[in-house]
Amino acid sequence: MLAKVLSGALLGIDAYPVEVEVDIAQGLPQFSTVGLPEGAVKESKDRVISAIKNSGYEFPARRITINLAPADIKKDGAAFDLPMAVGLLTATGLVKEGAAGRFVMMGELSLDGRVKPVRGVLPVAVAARDWQTQGLILPAENTPEGAIVDGLKVYGVRDLGEVISFLNGAHPLSPCALPVPELFAQARQGAEDFAEVRGQEHAKRALEVAAAGGHNILMVGPPGSGKTMLARRISTILPDLSFAEALETTKIHSVMGLLPEKQALIARRPFRHPHHTISDAGLIGGGSYPRPGEVSLAHNGVLFLDELPEFKKNVLEMLRQPLEDGQVTIARAATSLTYPADFMLVAAMNPCNCGFYGDSLQQCSCTPLMLQRYKTRLSGPLLDRIDLHVEVPRVAHKDLSDPRDAEPSAAIRARVEAARAVQRERLAPFGLHCNAQMQARHIRRFCAVDEAGHKLLEMVTDRLGLSARSYARILKLARTIADLANCSTITQAHLSEAIQYRSLDRRPG
Ligand SMILES: Nc1ncnc2c1ncn2[C@@H]1O[C@H](COP(=O)(O)OP(=O)(O)OP(=O)(O)O)[C@@H](O)[C@H]1O
Ligand SMILES: [Mg+2]
Repeated sequence: MLAKVLSGALLGIDAYPVEVEVDIAQGLPQFSTVGLPEGAVKESKDRVISAIKNSGYEFPARRITINLAPADIKKDGAAFDLPMAVGLLTATGLVKEGAAGRFVMMGELSLDGRVKPVRGVLPVAVAARDWQTQGLILPAENTPEGAIVDGLKVYGVRDLGEVISFLNGAHPLSPCALPVPELFAQARQGAEDFAEVRGQEHAKRALEVAAAGGHNILMVGPPGSGKTMLARRISTILPDLSFAEALETTKIHSVMGLLPEKQALIARRPFRHPHHTISDAGLIGGGSYPRPGEVSLAHNGVLFLDELPEFKKNVLEMLRQPLEDGQVTIARAATSLTYPADFMLVAAMNPCNCGFYGDSLQQCSCTPLMLQRYKTRLSGPLLDRIDLHVEVPRVAHKDLSDPRDAEPSAAIRARVEAARAVQRERLAPFGLHCNAQMQARHIRRFCAVDEAGHKLLEMVTDRLGLSARSYARILKLARTIADLANCSTITQAHLSEAIQYRSLDRRPG
């Protein structure tokens, strides 16, 4: 007796179909799983046996072989429990022949037969749309995640018994439907807002410029000046996620099993803030079967590195590839996987060890040597990829006590979106979408500076000794500032604002 049930497995953030084949033959009772089962799949049989028995079905005391095809890719996770159990019960005749063959199933079984949630549902749902199936049978908790994908029927189940009666036609289920536009509307509610940040107009303007051009930014300031507070709000001034972007970001979170309960879609740009003790595998991704890291969880959103100099240098160096390519490739002996990692980098640090260098009230207690050391802790190659440096000084009392709300995020976001639209139109023929991505040839072409601007640039290059690299940075930033002002030519005013955002180029020592 042979039965086949369809399921799906993950390869990176995409899924491929897996056929669960169950064969029951005469012979001594035995149960083996083949097809490169790893970790939790190896233990499936014990859960499947108990779940079948405890759901009141008979378990065949014969020779059972389960094959997971294609047999040459390693399979991990507990999601095959359900298709295995259904395959077994089909082979013994408890499920009508052919009833299961047209559904894709995923689910972990508990020993008493309940179906428990699994990770990676969304990628399977996205892929299953093209597999010509009758629908997807999922643990009830996972159904909203699967239902995001339209053109696919998704059924939620609570226990093995329910699946069996559904397949036998004894217990009808209705497919889960999800109002996607509502998810986007909900995501906008209750978010933190720039209106809560008092004063700090200079820093807010810098963040607006960064968001408008997709530039990476570093904030430097004494403890308690609001760096973390500002960073947390950046995603609220970035353009809204498109459905395709939301889907891609959600897939990554789904693969990691990190989707918050009752949240089917990540409809708001993610904000990730890993602690500075994070390992390179945690940041970039890794493990024997490579899993995405923080850079991928921040895909289409913000990666915030607080206390930048505290991060290990080798960990920061690893950021180069994602910052350059918008994706990471993790090679391991068994597999090499590529995960998307296109994020805006936001970093924060104190100006020195004690935190008060340059503060208006508190004296800095660091020695010149300590200042020097603190500065060298920053990774050069990483700093090279940060377009804006902004000082976030302590907030004045008159600002803090101001009862009026500051400008809300929505108003800032409107300006950011307008500036992005200009950039998209200009850069689309080159396959780029924001100013931060411009290379030397695009800069030459699109960053035309007026006469007075030229004079200013000449003066600062010679006086401040700016490197060729900072020079290009300044032009890119000035382009974004001009776009925010809807100007086609870069003027002196745009340039002088851009020059302010390169404060670390000028710091002594
Ligand atoms: N501009 C501001 N408007 C309103 N509240 C503020 C402002 N700046 C700071 N605060 C308050 O101070 C708290 C501390 O700010 P935050 O944690 O952002 O400081 P920080 O610069 O990150 O400090 P550290 O360097 O110690 O990490 C905030 O949670 C907020 O309540
Ligand atoms: Mg902080």
